[in-house]
Amino acid sequence: MKTKLYKPSDSSIAYSVGTTLDRFIKIKQNEFSFASGELSQILRDIALAAKIVNRETNRAGLANIGGAFGQTNVQGEEQQKLDVIANIRFTRALTKGGEVCAVVSEEDDEVIDLQNGSGKYVVAIDPLDGSSNIDVNISIGTIFSIYRRVTPVGSPIQPEDIMQPGNQQVAAGYVLYGSSTMLVYTTGHGVNGFTYEPSLGEFFLSHPNMCAPKGGDIYSINEGTSNLFEPGLKKYIELCKERQFSARYIGSLVADFHRNLLKGGIYIYPATSKSPKGKLRLLYEANALAFIAEQAGGMATDGYGRILDIKPTSLHQRTPLYIGSPDMVVEAENFLKASLEKVAEK
Ligand code: AHG
Ligand code: MN
Ligand code: MN
Repeated sequence: MKTKLYKPSDSSIAYSVGTTLDRFIKIKQNEFSFASGELSQILRDIALAAKIVNRETNRAGLANIGGAFGQTNVQGEEQQKLDVIANIRFTRALTKGGEVCAVVSEEDDEVIDLQNGSGKYVVAIDPLDGSSNIDVNISIGTIFSIYRRVTPVGSPIQPEDIMQPGNQQVAAGYVLYGSSTMLVYTTGHGVNGFTYEPSLGEFFLSHPNMCAPKGGDIYSINEGTSNLFEPGLKKYIELCKERQFSARYIGSLVADFHRNLLKGGIYIYPATSKSPKGKLRLLYEANALAFIAEQAGGMATDGYGRILDIKPTSLHQRTPLYIGSPDMVVEAENFLKASLEKVAEK
């Protein structure tokens, strides 16, 4: 048979659409310490659910799926309809994919056993982050952490499979439903971002090897509760103002984190005298973003120590969060520690 060698075609006639998420995972398969097919399947499941949630989010105002669901979650927060929809979409996709045995979700009080006998992975997820922003058409997100279970595959899920510190994550990521929809993830070898192309229904690599600027001039914190901040934090915020940094706070952690990752900045959800553990949840908010931040050259602490080294003691436990450009996180932490030392001296 006569053949001819393939020559790349003229890109002025048919431009290259780039690298899809799926192809990228395959190219990078050697970087994942476990079977790459398993990880690809989980990421594919998450990407599929994200596409559906993206669709629901985009038509929320038309489809009567905005507004409250009429129930509160385990943390006493009012669930939005889209919180519930997103939770169903992600849990269903992970169940059908078959690689995940258990899911920890913000929207479920207990661990969900997916009854996937051969599932080797555990996923912790905030299906919809920033849900108070849904009805006002502002960016929202999804946050996920992936762990290997530690007890034998096929046996009942044990607490030690779930209560793993963030430093045991094998992959983590977020989806941002913003001016465009993006999926950003890490497997511990840098951070890569993919933008959704709705007409093709695919995520394409758009932000290879994302790196957090070392310093920055954006600070993101809800200052409405500043009279409840600890003294060191009050001083740090004063310093940000003296330096005329920009205050930027969307109220969707994913969106605030993503902006600061690209532009350089710090996101703080602090401990206050009213909420000594802050608001954000360790297992499905802080850990994933901490892993991504560190992989991008950034930093994440609770003000005093590394987020990824916290040993969880309960499913929905909260933690203060200082995350973003490393120089800024270190400086904020120094202010907190110096203030504490002063109190101790007295
Ligand atoms: P969720 O919608 O998943 O409950 O998360 C909301 C979180 C986070 O996204 C955001 O940064 C923070 O709550 C905002 O809280 P405040 O309104 O207290 O600033
Ligand atoms: Mn959240
Ligand atoms: Mn949420």
